[in-house]
Amino acid sequence: MHEDIEKILVSQEEIKKRVKELGEEISRDYKDKFPLFVCILRGAFVFLADLVREVHVPISVDFMAISSYGGKTESSGQVKILKDLDTPIEDRHVLIVEDIVDTGLTMDAVTRLLKTRKPKSIKICTLLDKVDRRIINIKVDYYGFRIPNSFVVGYGLDYEEKYRNLPYIGILKEKVYKGGSNN
Ligand code: XMP
Ligand code: MG
Repeated sequence: MHEDIEKILVSQEEIKKRVKELGEEISRDYKDKFPLFVCILRGAFVFLADLVREVHVPISVDFMAISSYGGKTESSGQVKILKDLDTPIEDRHVLIVEDIVDTGLTMDAVTRLLKTRKPKSIKICTLLDKVDRRIINIKVDYYGFRIPNSFVVGYGLDYEEKYRNLPYIGILKEKVYKGGSNN
């Protein structure tokens, strides 16, 4: 285990099993719908890559990068598009693939924005859901794991761009983001 990790919250094996289940469920729900998976960069890239390989119906993929104005470990709900989709979504079934839903502000802003482009449907699939932290009541259609309120990294999630390559979801040691050493 990495020295900055307090505890492994979701192991590599647990993630693999759950992603396969999600892929099967999504395959059933989107059969003959040719959905567009919208990956929210950068955190969701690992989840997307594993998820699409467990989906056995035709899909397409596009990417969107957003930044939320906020602190290092919290979001503010105001989002700015850094990279927009290249694909028109009018009349498409859109599935947003996100790493984590926390307050819900980011997903609320993104879905509101995408709805203005008149997709046929829009749903959210998040690997992690911190339900206790929700301040906006958004509907999460698919989730991998519900997790308590700790700052987590790994499997795509970062702290200051580090730890995305860890194969598990781990709780980051508090000293890493509250002072402490920064290397
Ligand atoms: P909201 O609050 O808008 O937040 O639902 C979603 C975004 O906040 C970031 N976030 C985290 N990132 N570990 C992370 O690496 C966490 O525990 C965490 N909690 C929230 C993340 O960018 C997500 O897209
Ligand atoms: Mg994110």
